[in-house]
Amino acid sequence: MKRLFFIFLLCPVFCAAQHETRIDSLLGRMTLHEKAGQLNQLDGRGTIDQLKELIRRGELGSVMNVMDPVMVNELQRIACEESPARIPLVFARDVVHGFKTMLPIPLGQAATFDPELVKQGARMAAAEATEHGIRWSFAPMADISRDARWGRIAEGFGEDTYLNAVMAAAVVEGYQGKELADPSSMAACVKHFVGYGAAEGGRDYNATHLTERQMREFYLPPFHEAVQAGCASVMTAFNDNDGIPCTANRFLLHDVLRGEWGFDGVVVSDWGAVGELVTHGYAGDRADAAVKALTAGTDMDMSSKIYIENIEKLVASGRLTEAEVDAAVRRVLRLKMRLGLFDNPYTEIAARSVTGGDAHLAVARKAAEESVVLLANRGTLPLGNFKKIVVAGPLADAPHDQLGTWTMDGDTAQTRTPARVLKARYGKRVEFIPALRYSRDRDTSDFARVAAAAAGADAVILFLGEEAILTGEAHSLAGLELQGAQTALLERLAATGTPVVAVFMAGRPLAIPRECTLSSAVLYAWHPGTMGGEAIADILTGKANPSGKLPASFPRMSGQSPLYYNHSSTGRPASGKEKPIEQIPVNARQSVLGHSSYYLDAGSKPLFPFGFGLSYTTFELGGLTLSADSISQNDTLRVSVTLRNTGRREGTQALQLYVRDHGGSVTRPVKELKRIARVTLAPGASERVEFTLTTADLAFWGADMRLRAEPGKFTLTVGMDSQSGLSAPFSLAE
Ligand code: GLC
Repeated sequence: MKRLFFIFLLCPVFCAAQHETRIDSLLGRMTLHEKAGQLNQLDGRGTIDQLKELIRRGELGSVMNVMDPVMVNELQRIACEESPARIPLVFARDVVHGFKTMLPIPLGQAATFDPELVKQGARMAAAEATEHGIRWSFAPMADISRDARWGRIAEGFGEDTYLNAVMAAAVVEGYQGKELADPSSMAACVKHFVGYGAAEGGRDYNATHLTERQMREFYLPPFHEAVQAGCASVMTAFNDNDGIPCTANRFLLHDVLRGEWGFDGVVVSDWGAVGELVTHGYAGDRADAAVKALTAGTDMDMSSKIYIENIEKLVASGRLTEAEVDAAVRRVLRLKMRLGLFDNPYTEIAARSVTGGDAHLAVARKAAEESVVLLANRGTLPLGNFKKIVVAGPLADAPHDQLGTWTMDGDTAQTRTPARVLKARYGKRVEFIPALRYSRDRDTSDFARVAAAAAGADAVILFLGEEAILTGEAHSLAGLELQGAQTALLERLAATGTPVVAVFMAGRPLAIPRECTLSSAVLYAWHPGTMGGEAIADILTGKANPSGKLPASFPRMSGQSPLYYNHSSTGRPASGKEKPIEQIPVNARQSVLGHSSYYLDAGSKPLFPFGFGLSYTTFELGGLTLSADSISQNDTLRVSVTLRNTGRREGTQALQLYVRDHGGSVTRPVKELKRIARVTLAPGASERVEFTLTTADLAFWGADMRLRAEPGKFTLTVGMDSQSGLSAPFSLAE
């Protein structure tokens, strides 16, 4: 028995050694041209005959965006039987939040504060994508984003480092399963390495200016977590940080990713990013771009064709060594070995497809339900036995927009929209009048009709927000206010006196203070995916109790961006009691307003803070206890608190544990999320919730750029959002 266990332990090591031996022998047989071919990745949507010719000549290592398993197998057969080195291709696709069955956008999945559910969703997506021949997905996106003007905030897990880290790891585990070689597993690709979400002005692709400390403190940890979870690949980011494009940043790719973290997977450039080194002004020409990217550590060239066109010349001229090329090729071959492609290159054409099945729809529905955040409720929700409700707004029946950005294969015919679900469930008791056709629509000609209908209804459910095209890559907004005549529509409906429930579908936090004032209740559903309508209908009618929490701070005005909870104190923090602009006296003397860090017209606080979300029940926290009020290095701190459901129905609360380090060799954020825990309680029930912290959780990159916990005073808070909760002091001794 012992021998068996020992063999089991040794197996991964044995397999890895076997892989390297096979790779050595392959490299020994390949020409330099074939090696360059392995580093070349192209879009498969071009002319298929040209693609087949490239494959036949061994000039392609990976093909993107071919999702017909029959075609995948045909191309794979050419690679395995007709190309010189007989090396299989790896087929890739952006499977970011589902394949055909769409999950909520990642920002919405982050709002679940439920990594286990996010992992289930990724597993479901992998089952659908691999059935179509996809074995490499360009996800998770783990870019910290503190600026809602940036369209790609939709694609990541929000502003917080810890939340992005746990969610990115969950997606990696979901995609890659227990065995990467399992045909239903696909390689994950954590992206975009790194700091891309800090684009200046929230304008996509813009330069970033992050210090090494900011990189290491906030932006790198989610990637490190993904790598530690076994992520098979990393994608470089488009941005130049501090003047060096990430695709050619040796410090990041070689020193940190491979040197410090020991990452031995593939680094793939983003689309055309090797070529963009010339546009950045960082490379003199395409050949120079090839040298700079490859020697920095970018193994595979996505879609710019620079590697395949230049590597042989560069080795011949001595600007590249064959050993440098071999190092990159080895990692590509290793990825293919780990995927099992050398032994099992073909996609089994499923006798019975799992894609779009009930089990997958159920996962999508649960994810949509847990992603919805209840922001306000003046008693209107859940809807009781209504006689009539009016459903209105441009997002009430928007099967395309509801799926959100990066819906590459999502089936809009499958989309359950709120309007259709509510109509199907409640028939004539639901009157649906969109009143606006899409979020930017300014045609108010139907406002009178919808207002008349609202006047005689028990409530209006108004679906507002943004079209999918206004979110995602290259879709930054300078203004976060609602587009078109949406606010005017809400004003018109609120004026009827009938309670209006505003339900937002969006890919970012929007600046909605006026809309929240005018509404009797507010739900934020992000772009909730295929089953969004079912989930929202369940929440509206009380069949489900909302439990979502905000993964990003909500601004009162666009000008507050970037906005995030774990900010520096500054030397003059706002007290929160500053005069609102309308109360500033005329001819006021210069110093009457004090001297603190806030906006005269927007204050210092968000409209809704990170981690915020209400429920149909109420909760109370009590009895915060720490196992010690002073700990030493390498100690463990046990924290416990009692959560009670003080309301009249079952509910789930996502508890959050924050720590504040009151001083260090560098300034520290006013708060940092360190743990989350979802707890479901029956009415009246209570539970003692336990957390464990170690001094590693208190470590940060000090003035000397060393990662360690420094002695000093701390405050620990357990709360239901980032602005409130029970706190207790503790200290870390020398
Ligand atoms: C895009 C995106 C990247 C995506 C890639 C392939 O430009 O930046 O996230 O994976 O190209 O589609």
